Amino acid sequence: MTTLSNFRCISCSKEYKIHEIRYLCDCGDLLEVIHDLQSSISNPDLWKKSLDNKMQQTAFLRYQNILFPSLPLDSIISLHEGDTPLYDVSDQFPEFGSFKLKHEGINPTLSFKDRGMVAGVSWAHHLDCQHVICASTGDTSAAMAAYAGYAKNMQGIVLLPNGKISPEQLSQAISYGSLTIGIETDFDDCMRLVQELTRKHNIYLLNSMNSIRIEGQKAIGIELLHQLNWEVPDWIIIPVGNAGNISALGKGLRELFKLGIIDKLPRLAGIQTEAASPLYESFKNSYANLIPQKAKSTKASAIQIGNPVSFNKAIKELKKFNGVVEIVSEIELMDWKAQIDSLGISICPNSSVAVSGAMKLRDNEIIKSDDDVVVILTAHGSKF
Ligand code: F0G
Repeated sequence: MTTLSNFRCISCSKEYKIHEIRYLCDCGDLLEVIHDLQSSISNPDLWKKSLDNKMQQTAFLRYQNILFPSLPLDSIISLHEGDTPLYDVSDQFPEFGSFKLKHEGINPTLSFKDRGMVAGVSWAHHLDCQHVICASTGDTSAAMAAYAGYAKNMQGIVLLPNGKISPEQLSQAISYGSLTIGIETDFDDCMRLVQELTRKHNIYLLNSMNSIRIEGQKAIGIELLHQLNWEVPDWIIIPVGNAGNISALGKGLRELFKLGIIDKLPRLAGIQTEAASPLYESFKNSYANLIPQKAKSTKASAIQIGNPVSFNKAIKELKKFNGVVEIVSEIELMDWKAQIDSLGISICPNSSVAVSGAMKLRDNEIIKSDDDVVVILTAHGSKF
């Protein structure tokens, strides 16, 4: 079997073997997965052309040699995630050069989490892990439960903050067969608990601090660029909670750039709510260290997170992409949810955080009138 990948610490660069079950470096910081991509993709034009013959495959398989080449094909647990629509709504929003919405809510469990879970659960399957666990604000748990259910011989366990996720999200984890535990606390505390549990017991952790999941999530940005015929937009805008998705987006785009598949990088904007804004506070203070918050109640309940686990990764990516972080109010996000829904595109309140952030950045002229903008919609409206 080919082993083209290793774990590497994002701060001290210490490397670990990919088959080790490990989420953090000995120094305490996050790990990322590094691959010898050049050896599998030496010619960017040939690689792009090779995709023409792979359009019948699932997105994960199509892009696998850039996502996670070390995963054996016979371990893949896929529910046909990906190939999500990219809606061009530029006519409705002439204040931008162009305005497009990549709808990750059109995935098997109705959120972008399926993209990472295909990598995470497949790797768990490959490692023969019988128990997988996550803390969640409702979408990670739905995705993990579905993929663990599909894997067979794998029991999912989810820890949820009681009363803080939608009934639709809750019913997903339960009906897909995961042991679903509501705890009288918030997401950040559930996250602390799963880390403690996986230290003590033989249970595989599938939150985005598991960097294998991040590799699967890179597919969102790669598929987007493919849909854009590798023409890089000026901005990609994304809602931020635990900060895994923005980290994955950045990593995937940097890898495309390094391989010569794209010729420039976009700018990234991460959007939070006034109720939970730790990344924004850091950004505003020249990327100061994380000051954890007690996240307040918000309609964008999936990003009600005060202590984002992937904070250090997100900051690194934002700096590399000349990024910005903005916050929006409850009224702004619900107003934009209504407006996008009325176009026939059903979005969740977390996705509308990103849409309203785009509008705010345009109003403040950080986004210019001729800029090409893509907003990542992270889940479907019917989940909330
Ligand atoms: N949008 C939705 C719909 C989400 O469910 C999440 C995160 C995010 C955005 C933020 O992504 O955490 O990578 O910055 N949901 C996690 C969960 C925390 O448990 O479902 P992030």
